[in-house]
Amino acid sequence: MEYLCFQNHQKMNVLLLGSGGRESALAWKTAQSQIVDKLFIAPGNGGTSAYGTNVALNPLDFDAVRRFIEENAVEMLVVGNEDPLVAGITDYMAQHCPALLVVGPSREGARLEGSKEFAKEFMQRHSIPTARYRAFTAETINQGYEFLETLEAPYVLKADGLAAGKGVLIEPSLADARASLAEMLGGKFGQSSATVVIEEFLSGIECSVFVLTDGHGGYRVLPVAKDYKRVGEGDTGLNTGGMGSVSPVAFADEEFMRKVDERIIRPTVDGLIKDGIDYRGFIFLGLISVKGEPMVIEYNVRMGDPETESVMLRIDSDLGRLMAAAAAGDLGSVPLEISPKSAATVMLVSGGYPEAYGKGFEITGLDASLPCIAFHAGTKTDAEGRILTSGGRVIALSATGTDIADALAKCYSGAEKVDFDKKYYRSDIGRDVMALAK
Ligand code: AMP
Ligand code: GLY
Repeated sequence: MEYLCFQNHQKMNVLLLGSGGRESALAWKTAQSQIVDKLFIAPGNGGTSAYGTNVALNPLDFDAVRRFIEENAVEMLVVGNEDPLVAGITDYMAQHCPALLVVGPSREGARLEGSKEFAKEFMQRHSIPTARYRAFTAETINQGYEFLETLEAPYVLKADGLAAGKGVLIEPSLADARASLAEMLGGKFGQSSATVVIEEFLSGIECSVFVLTDGHGGYRVLPVAKDYKRVGEGDTGLNTGGMGSVSPVAFADEEFMRKVDERIIRPTVDGLIKDGIDYRGFIFLGLISVKGEPMVIEYNVRMGDPETESVMLRIDSDLGRLMAAAAAGDLGSVPLEISPKSAATVMLVSGGYPEAYGKGFEITGLDASLPCIAFHAGTKTDAEGRILTSGGRVIALSATGTDIADALAKCYSGAEKVDFDKKYYRSDIGRDVMALAK
C-alpha cells in the first residue's frame, strides 16, 4: 500500500514550484496548514517570502530541485504550473525520491493539458461531453479544409501542444479559418501546432471547476470560479493570462454541478484509472454551459490563475492535509469545507500587457491598511528592499465578502491604493455573474 500515514506524521517541509499569483495564493494557504513545518517556494516572487522561504531554483532543472529536496528534508512537492509536469517531474521524483509526496500528475496524466488531441481522445474514449472535433497535420491539411466545410462559423482551431495560452484561434469566416490552418501547420506556434485540432464552436457561459484527486477514485471538488481572460472591459481585446476572477458562479448551481459530477468529474477520475494513468493532484476543468448542459472546453493539470486567488479564500479546511492525502493516494475522510462567503480577485497589470510593457516600476501602497489581500504575481524585491514590477500581471487583489459585490468593493478599494507607473485593471470583473444572480 503506497498510502503513507501522514495523518500521524509530524510536521513536514514542503516545496512549492512556481512564481505567479497562483503560487502566492497556494503558499498563503499552505503556510496555514497544521502539518506544514517549513515552506519553500521556488523561485517565488517579491511577495511569497511573506509565507515561506524563496529559493532560487529553476523548476525545470529536476536535478537541482531534487538536490534541494534531499538537502532540506522536503517531504512534499507541490507543482504549481504545468511546464514541469508536462516535462515529467512527477515521474522523475518517483524514480529518484520514491518517498516524496508529489502533488501533480505523471507525465502521461499531464498530457491532458500538454496535448489537445490526447485530451479530446480521452474524452471521446470515456464519453465525456465536449465539442465535436478532428485533428490534422501538414500531411492531412486537405482533409482539414474538408472538415472545416462541415462546420459552421465561427471556427475553432487549437494548436495541439502548449502555446503559453495563445494557441487557440477563433476565426469568423471559412477563408480566415483555412488561412489559419495553413499558418498553424506551417509552424505559427512552432512544434506546438504541428498538429491542429479543429472543433465545433460552443456557445454559452464558461466556468472553472477544480478537482483534487488521489488517483484511487477519491476526489474533492473545490469552489467553482469564473475568470476574465480578455484585457478590455466587456470582454473585449486580447486574451491575457487572466484579469480577475470570482467565486461562486451563480449559474453553477446544485443541479448544474450534479451534472458536472455525473457526466464529467467521475468519468474523468475513473477514466484516468482505467487508462492506467497515475494522477494525484489538481484537475482543472474548463467548462461551458450550453443551455444548462456542461461540456468540457479544456483540461489543465494544475490550478487556474487568477481563479486560485479567489478559490483559496473560500477553503476553510487545511489544504496541506488535503494535498498530502491526495499525493499519498488516499483522500480518505480528510474534509474539504467550503466557506459560504463569496470571493473576488482583481488583477493589477502593467500598461501595455499582454503586448509589450515596461518592468521595474516601484509598487507603493502595499500596507496593512488594505481591505484585501495583495497576492504578488509579477513582482520582485530589489537590494534596498523595494518591491518592483517584474511582469505583466503584477498584483492580484483578493477579498471575501457577504456577496460578490461586497468582495469586489474591497478589491477595488485596494486597487486605488496600490500604485505603480502605468497601472491598469478592469473595472467590470464579476458584472456578468452578478447580473445572473439577480
Ligand atoms: P483553451 O485554451 O482551450 O481554454 O481555449 C481558450 C478559450 O477559447 C476558451 O476559454 C474559450 O473561451 C474559447 N474556446 C475554446 N474552445 C472553444 C469552443 N469549442 N467553442 C467556443 N469557444 C471555445
Ligand atoms: N485562468 C485560466 C488558466 O489558468 O489557464
